[in-house]
Amino acid sequence: MMSDKRDKKRLAVIGHPVTHSRSPAMQNAALAELGLAGEWTYEAIDVAPDEFERRVRAMVGEGFAGANVTVPHKGAALILADKLSETVREIGAANTLSFANGEIYADNTDAKGLLRALPASPQGERVLVLGAGGAARAVVWALLGEGAHVEVWNRTELRSRNLCEKLGGTPVTAPDGPSYRLIVNATSVGLRGEDPFGELPLSADGFSGGQTVVDLVYGAGTSQLLAAAEIAGAAVVDGIEVLVRQGALSLEIWTGREPPLDVMRAAAREP
Ligand code: ATR
Repeated sequence: MMSDKRDKKRLAVIGHPVTHSRSPAMQNAALAELGLAGEWTYEAIDVAPDEFERRVRAMVGEGFAGANVTVPHKGAALILADKLSETVREIGAANTLSFANGEIYADNTDAKGLLRALPASPQGERVLVLGAGGAARAVVWALLGEGAHVEVWNRTELRSRNLCEKLGGTPVTAPDGPSYRLIVNATSVGLRGEDPFGELPLSADGFSGGQTVVDLVYGAGTSQLLAAAEIAGAAVVDGIEVLVRQGALSLEIWTGREPPLDVMRAAAREP
């Protein structure tokens, strides 16, 4: 290739919508910290679902080395990839693409990212996962792999049953919130300001001090879910921390460098 972009390595997050994403700020801060900012760039690209495949295939020839893929493209990313990691194959969703030798390689850093964000191993613990979409699949796969006893609730029961048939875990229709050591919200509830206690089978006074509560949804400030859990004395992990951990793993895949976690965290949390 005689492209003048040969020495530039472009990265991006592809989503729809994507303007709210903290990934460009976080990844560009990391690239600067690693001394790679002159060579590498990270941008946000809004791509509608019907344009996704054409756009990603074009990126292969536009100097891109890789991309993060977010809502609603994580399933499509797996379908168009030439090679899949074992994790992607098992979870059925991809969030990290790498482009090399004209081929698209798909990986999933959401699962390991979640585990790294937890304060303690969930091994042997009873855990509740809310949701049955791509995010929930990665969470359930990760927790089962650690030896947790996973129960899955979803608004549409058929989807939680299907998820458990494929991955394992037990579908549950009326979970008893306080009885779990770990609760992970992997639904999109809260993203558009919904009341989590109206939409999810949890009550605001149903948390306890021995629990860890994770909310993958992030926005400005603490989510209603985590605010209630914090009042009860539960340990909380927000969506930004999980974003930082998955983003760090993606950056390592692309650059082979050790990601500067503190710099990424600070940039992701900047207002
Ligand atoms: P992702 O890939 O990010 O997980 P998704 O596949 O669209 O996105 O999944 C969104 C999840 O949030 C689903 O579990 C969805 O429940 P349904 O399967 O019943 O649609 C859940 N969800 C979205 N809005 C919800 C709401 N208001 N109440 C409860 N669950 C909701």
